[in-house]
Amino acid sequence: MIFSIFLLMILFLLLPAWAVRAEERKPSVHLLATGGTIAGKASSETATTGYEAGALGVEDLLSALPEVKDYAHVTGEEICGIDSKDMTDTIWLTLAERVNELAGKKDGLVIIHGTDTMEETAWFLQLTVNPSIPLVLTGAMRPATALSADGPMNLLNAVRLAGDPSAKGKGALVMMNDTIFAARNVTKGNTLSLDTFRSPDGPLGYMNDGHPGWCALPVRIPKGQAPFDIRHMKSLPKVYIVYGTACADGAMVRGAVFAGAEGIIYAGTGNGSIHKADEIELAKAAAAGIPVVRSSHAGSGSVISAEPSYDREGFIHGGSLSPQKARILLQLALTRTKNFGEIGEMFERY
Ligand code: SIN
Repeated sequence: MIFSIFLLMILFLLLPAWAVRAEERKPSVHLLATGGTIAGKASSETATTGYEAGALGVEDLLSALPEVKDYAHVTGEEICGIDSKDMTDTIWLTLAERVNELAGKKDGLVIIHGTDTMEETAWFLQLTVNPSIPLVLTGAMRPATALSADGPMNLLNAVRLAGDPSAKGKGALVMMNDTIFAARNVTKGNTLSLDTFRSPDGPLGYMNDGHPGWCALPVRIPKGQAPFDIRHMKSLPKVYIVYGTACADGAMVRGAVFAGAEGIIYAGTGNGSIHKADEIELAKAAAAGIPVVRSSHAGSGSVISAEPSYDREGFIHGGSLSPQKARILLQLALTRTKNFGEIGEMFERY
């Protein structure tokens, strides 16, 4: 009996110390909010469209999710509060600079973002930020004011993923609907469904009751420094996407060149195939020094060699990058070189 009381007293004395240690062991995770539906406010709980995206700040989102404090020391700030369809070069550059500033200071970072261009921001960040800490993008398909809003659970999972050491070294990650995707091949695949993100090569893993369960490794992950140094940049080169279709007439390519394109992504059919009428105009653009990258709107697979004329005309293979991600890589490549061969090598490497 005396021994049991003694044991209880010891436990009682040690408990606060354990609690302090557990608190200290929690990772530090910083949120960078950019807006989106996750921060959206609608006029009623049943409205899932017609809301104002990006209306709520990071503090509003955190006060609706007190549970997050059980898993991490969470801090946050707003970079902007936009509907992500309105993303700009300036916001991207600001965001990348801020991520780089925070890289050595926190255990993980979460970017709160609209779903419409989340895949593009994830890819831009993968190419421009120091890969030393976990970087997770998340958002929601239902506004914060909706019944069964998906934002709080997505945010909680994103914080837990960003605070998990196993997320390190995997590049920028997208965590939506309990599923973890690699920046390079994630895409929004459904206009309205909560389960909207997909990757043609499958996800990297799932959040299982708040813990990452990995089932694949990402490819072409930058090591060491960020592949592209964006410090002091104020804007990015103009690169336009021309969508290849039946009955094309070259007008879209001429339009892109007229608008001052420094590079063109051709979102071709099949294996980056180009309508003859568009090819004539693209060949003129390439001859004038404008790099032309062949990609595909097929949705999966790689764009490789096809017609011999494409190589003669100097067109670059876009590989397995979607047109919208090829556009970002070409923009960044153009900040370093205009040489078609060197740009082609970057498409092989990243
Ligand atoms: C946006 O992309 O900002 C709006 C749509 C969304 O977040 O789902």
